[in-house]
Amino acid sequence: MAARHQAPRGTRDLLPEEAERWRWAEDRARGVLERYGYGELRTPMFEEFELFARTSGESSDLVQKEMYRFTDLGERTLALRPEFTAGVMRAFLEHGLGGRGRVHRLWSMGPVFRYGRPQKGRYRQFSQINCELVGSAAPGADVEIITLFVDLYEAWGFRSLTVKLNTLGQPETRREYGDKLRALLAPHLDRLSADSRRRLEQNPLRVLDTKEEQDLAVLRELEGRLPHLLDLVGPEDRAHWDAVLAGLDAAGIRYEVDHGLVRGLDYYTRTAFEVHDASLGAQSALGGGGRYDGLIEQLGGNPTPGVGFAIGMDRALLVLEERGLALDAADTVCVVAMDATRAGASALVRELRRRFRVEADVEAKAFGAQMKAAGKSGARFLVIAGEEEWARGEVALKDSASGEQKAVKREALAGEIEARLGVRQTMTRGSKT
Ligand code: HAM
Repeated sequence: MAARHQAPRGTRDLLPEEAERWRWAEDRARGVLERYGYGELRTPMFEEFELFARTSGESSDLVQKEMYRFTDLGERTLALRPEFTAGVMRAFLEHGLGGRGRVHRLWSMGPVFRYGRPQKGRYRQFSQINCELVGSAAPGADVEIITLFVDLYEAWGFRSLTVKLNTLGQPETRREYGDKLRALLAPHLDRLSADSRRRLEQNPLRVLDTKEEQDLAVLRELEGRLPHLLDLVGPEDRAHWDAVLAGLDAAGIRYEVDHGLVRGLDYYTRTAFEVHDASLGAQSALGGGGRYDGLIEQLGGNPTPGVGFAIGMDRALLVLEERGLALDAADTVCVVAMDATRAGASALVRELRRRFRVEADVEAKAFGAQMKAAGKSGARFLVIAGEEEWARGEVALKDSASGEQKAVKREALAGEIEARLGVRQTMTRGSKT
């Protein structure tokens, strides 16, 4: 029978096996964030539309085309969050977290919403891990944030990721850059897409972010003649840039300077960065971020610098899955009982579940059928509550890793399984890069 309803376009369900992979990734990330000393901030999934319009930029694709904007029954204009940063800064101000010399390290995790054209690794509801270091303008803050960014991917088994890095200078730098770009592209206007022509008027840097082949062809022709933001920035921005690169070198972070990296949101100043993975194509970043020294002031706060990033969890997990991040059922214990031992075994199952993942029959299946199911389950341990052993206070424990089977006292069972497991792990990291 065909299902009458489907998940809305651009959304999807995570079935238990996939959800388990997600939980593993989230847990690993939480460990890294905790060790870096970041605190969790949970903000609402929707905010005033105006907050996003002001921060992301009125002319950005995010605001013009991708916002889940709605009016509630009280006639408020709201929007599902398309990213975390705006809400985090709103909360920062609302709770008065600012103050001279105070640095805040905040992380958030959860779903965000963008109305785009769904494709591989591009959804309308997706999840981000977002981190912000607020209150420091020092290059060391950029270095910490980029190091954390890379360490999160490494905790998932990514190796040899290269961070692409650029500086976006100040709003004046970008205006000057935009004028130069307009002049360069003027003779080629008729070959550009309508989107790029609009961007050239409203926000010329975004032209460099185009995904249209016709625009890319023009940009390729102009390669070598396009100005670099780095050549236009003032001496303080330049010194900041040099110090960030030196800090990354010292921390052992691999990076590549990418003069074409401009990011899709309007609030960035100075450092901007992204990581990409070949399997998603050059246009899809696994994650990105940058410095936003003017953002808090723009929202009505005292001038407060900040730097942060967001990692696209869906994309990271897609890549890991393709590389063979596999669920490992090795620590599952399967308990098989007979009619005479079923009642007693239920207490044993409950006890084992305090420490292990345990599978047990709930349908009073015949012993043979339970054994068959246990064989199929791929569980590492099989516990057989046979009538005779049970009467002696024992069960049979079979360890599929060694093939060994022995009688174990019921009270010693959990300890025996634990000893055989050594360090408990629910997932193995099979991904290689
Ligand atoms: P963003 O580059 O817009 O940055 O998004 C970060 C990441 O979210 C992207 O690199 C990508 O992995 C993922 N992403 C974006 N759109 C989609 C989509 N439709 N489907 C799946 N994944 C997607 C920000 O959001 C900034 N708030 C980051 C930041 C924090 N900057 C400073 N602080």
